[in-house]
Amino acid sequence: MNHALDPLTATEIDIAARVTREHSGIDDTAWFETITLDEPRQTILRTPAPSNRCAYVCCYERSSNRTLRGVVDLTAEALLQWDHIEGVQARIPSDEFADGARIIKDDPRFQAACAERGIDDLDTVLVETWAAGNFGIPEEDGERIAYCHCWVINDAGDNRYGRPIANLHPVVDLCRREVIRIDDFGAVDLPPDTAAIRPVDNLRQDIKPLEITQPEGPSFTVDGYGVHWQKWQIRVGFNQREGLVLHDIGYDDKGCLRPIMRRASMAEMVVPYGDPGAGNVRRNAFDTGEYGVGAALDSLKLGCDCLGHIHYFDICSHDWTGAPKAIENAICMHEEDYGLLWKHTDAQSGKARAVRSRRLVISTIATIGNYVYGFFWYFYQDGNIGVEVKATGIPFPTALQPGETPEHGTIIAPGITSHVHQHVFSYRFDMAVDGDENSVAEVEFAGAPMGDGNPYGNLIKIVERPLTSEAAAAREMNLATARYWKVQNPSTLNKFGQPTAYKLAPGINALPFLDPQAPVAKRAGFMYKHFWATQFDRDQLYPAGWYPNQSKGGDGLSEWVQADRPLENEDVVVWYTMNLHHLPRPEDWPVQPVVYADFHWMPDGFFDENPALDVPPNKPA
Ligand code: CO
Repeated sequence: MNHALDPLTATEIDIAARVTREHSGIDDTAWFETITLDEPRQTILRTPAPSNRCAYVCCYERSSNRTLRGVVDLTAEALLQWDHIEGVQARIPSDEFADGARIIKDDPRFQAACAERGIDDLDTVLVETWAAGNFGIPEEDGERIAYCHCWVINDAGDNRYGRPIANLHPVVDLCRREVIRIDDFGAVDLPPDTAAIRPVDNLRQDIKPLEITQPEGPSFTVDGYGVHWQKWQIRVGFNQREGLVLHDIGYDDKGCLRPIMRRASMAEMVVPYGDPGAGNVRRNAFDTGEYGVGAALDSLKLGCDCLGHIHYFDICSHDWTGAPKAIENAICMHEEDYGLLWKHTDAQSGKARAVRSRRLVISTIATIGNYVYGFFWYFYQDGNIGVEVKATGIPFPTALQPGETPEHGTIIAPGITSHVHQHVFSYRFDMAVDGDENSVAEVEFAGAPMGDGNPYGNLIKIVERPLTSEAAAAREMNLATARYWKVQNPSTLNKFGQPTAYKLAPGINALPFLDPQAPVAKRAGFMYKHFWATQFDRDQLYPAGWYPNQSKGGDGLSEWVQADRPLENEDVVVWYTMNLHHLPRPEDWPVQPVVYADFHWMPDGFFDENPALDVPPNKPA
């Protein structure tokens, strides 16, 4: 018996595809962008009222260039709803991405452009059909366009991005399946082959085994997709678009299960690149909304991706025909030693108490073209929740003219530059701090001149103010005031009479450099504020809107908050933008060591005291 929030099974995906094909009126040219759980929004941390499981389905019909979507009741095998969404383009699934490459390689103009560059064997050419964005080009308007980037695969065959073909950008209409033009900004010599990833004879010899053993097993228990660990309760979920989703996050406090979040996910991301030249301006990836992270999850390997006593969750994705595609070991869960949790040494007696920390790690890794993103969630014994991205893979390489010094990138290998860019992630948190009715506050600090009440100039004033509506709650970080934000429950007070709260503690971040009028910026308004809060709305799930592929903008967070709905004692959703600013280094070639970016949720008056006092000290070794 599935829990209402369990990911769809292969059987359910089959049913959803079949029912849609039979009842929606789509023709044979239609393919499936998304078949994923249509999540019921039940009472948090309680068994939902029994209702049939449903699938959300989105299709693209090539014959009519239409995007259609609806809901399938999986028990009744009935199509409950089916709508044509006008003027939008579905995401580009991997099958269509590959199809685009085939169309381009068959085009004589592309073959001629390759031949001009001395490339005759098209089997060695990698063509990637990137989402085109919307740059106001008339012949692209309303069509289903991809703007492509090309490489020659390195000789070792282990780096498909090893030798960039600069300035060659086929533009393909994926609806009519034809190349509409080749943007050729002039041939640049292929860089030398420096791209082999694996050193063959010189692996270091002085590394001894490091083994993690848990002789009595892990401290978590798992029931289906439900997890209990060290007072935490979490439901693991999956969505074809966002990938890993966590539901019903709560903490067992002295026998009382206290909700914190209903749902948490990485809801959108965009990676704008900073080179204004030639075809490079078209390079920016909304990996979630344009391609989908869920379908790109790796099948993880014990001992390689994950070390220790691992529990893997399998999930089921699907291909564009609607056939289920199981991803075994898609979600990894394990415990990690995390150094000290707390310590005190009594100066007089010398007696020390030191307690070690461990954390529960729930993670996925998505390989999206050249880049690899690890999406990590950490739960700690002191009530903290950590959110981290691990960025690795191959930095996007572009070939340089001989002697050229790149203005907007670094030379990362002979003849190769990688341009400055930002990885901007938008996390969505459907908050439920001690219940659904929450309020939002901002906390800042200020000094004051020496004088009355501040004789030695050391005063730090604490300024906490409510953010009472959506427009007021669109905020940036501020180093000068050490600003952070809190989500509170005004009707649940701690023993000091303060509303129980969780605080969002920012970490690595940056602001965008895109001109707000830039075509990409208009589609990604979310990137201009680090913190947003909105009233829950079932349709407001994705901060660049449901259909960012080729959108002109005008949908998403920055539009929604213009409604300026109240946020006091309301059903609050918090959005956090984490901007990982990245100028690649030579050390990032041919494959980039993991770069980390993170932030935390911390209990702030949620508990009456350190909730980890009851963690037993380890025995001295
Ligand atoms: Co990067």
